[in-house]
Amino acid sequence: MSTSHPTLTLVQGDITEQTVDAVVNAANSSLLGGGGVDGAIHRRGGPEILAECRSLRAAQYGRGLPTGQAVATTAGRLPARWVIHTVGPVHSDSEDRTDLLASCYRESLRVAAELGARAVAFPAISTGVYRWPVADGARTAVATVRAAVAESPDAFDEIRFVVFDDRAREAYEAALADAADAG
Ligand code: APR
Repeated sequence: MSTSHPTLTLVQGDITEQTVDAVVNAANSSLLGGGGVDGAIHRRGGPEILAECRSLRAAQYGRGLPTGQAVATTAGRLPARWVIHTVGPVHSDSEDRTDLLASCYRESLRVAAELGARAVAFPAISTGVYRWPVADGARTAVATVRAAVAESPDAFDEIRFVVFDDRAREAYEAALADAADAG
């Protein structure tokens, strides 16, 4: 019985350049594109992605993809097989939406496992336009992914956190180190 556990890796770079099975998109509920990660994925991935997003909107997501949920499409021209679109929560000072952010990581991994994706790349969901503090976003990302892969240690080979700037890299380095120390 192999006790293989996925490696959790950290890369500073553009998520659209990651050669993995599935790339997670920090989308919005419309699934019709936007800026940041969403804009980069649609720009680089090409029109096939948007075409499939429109089909999803015409079918089971008529009212849009709810926050915290995830759905897959083709990755188009990206060096990946699938894009898993997930909608992060907008940060709120008055309401703790951590569970919704955690759900993005959990649901994206559930969809990835259903697809048979063995290597998955995540951006720092909600920490851009949606203003989530990056240190907390990193801690939630690492804790949720670690818990999910502990439940199904053979489901993945690599979970890759892809950050875009030094600040996010430092936040993820700290979150990964703290989690490793906590065992
Ligand atoms: N590759 C990797 N990371 C990126 C890239 C990229 N090409 N572009 C931006 N980022 C980083 C940002 O620096 C931030 O840390 O991804 C993180 C998430 O930022 P956003 O893309 O703004 O996503 P989010 O905060 O979840 O906001 C989602 O923004 O683009 C719109 O349509 C999207 O309405 C949705 C909202």
